[in-house]
Amino acid sequence: TKRVAIFLSGGGSNMRALVEDMTGDHPARPCVVVSNVADAGGIAWAKERGIPTEVVDHKPFAGDRAAFENELTARLMPHAPDIICLAGFMRKLTGGFTDAWAGRMINIHPSLLPRYKGLHTHARALEAGDTQHGCTVHEVTAALDDGPILGQATIPVMAGDTPEDLAARVLVQEHRLYPAVLRRFASGNRDLLMLES
Ligand code: GAR
Repeated sequence: TKRVAIFLSGGGSNMRALVEDMTGDHPARPCVVVSNVADAGGIAWAKERGIPTEVVDHKPFAGDRAAFENELTARLMPHAPDIICLAGFMRKLTGGFTDAWAGRMINIHPSLLPRYKGLHTHARALEAGDTQHGCTVHEVTAALDDGPILGQATIPVMAGDTPEDLAARVLVQEHRLYPAVLRRFASGNRDLLMLES
């Protein structure tokens, strides 16, 4: 059974979807939830469930990303993870960290990569007049939102949609896509998974 560390910065709805799927015949189990934000909703939920948690606040490191990542590693390793899932973890990770986890760390991003790396993906898709939008799970490399794509889920963009409308409909798809990709990834399957809504 693979041990999965989940990193988040917020409410952790994707973390919850992953944890709730990791039962029964699933090839993985959660071993720790890590956050850079002490009062992240996802940390409270994990604690209630009896999942170990670690909080590493980035602010005392004052932009020293290497020192922040060294502390992340120090707190992570006792949990002996095999796989890291980034689930709304809003700190960029440098090559020092991503190279150590190459092929073993995945992320979910709220756009159809390679479109709209970075922030404000829903507003950017609307501005571009896209008729399709969605989310992507990919392997994490040193370049932001740029590693090999493992799966995507699409939604149609409708007339009058706001960024909030898209965010809500994409999030529903994230909760389908991420658990489905993790199941496959944890058993060594990196074939592209495409889901339609
Ligand atoms: C999700 O929409 C995720 O795709 C996005 O943050 C949200 C986290 O929600 N991630 C990024 O933007 C990564 N740059 P959650 O905390 O409810 O899972």
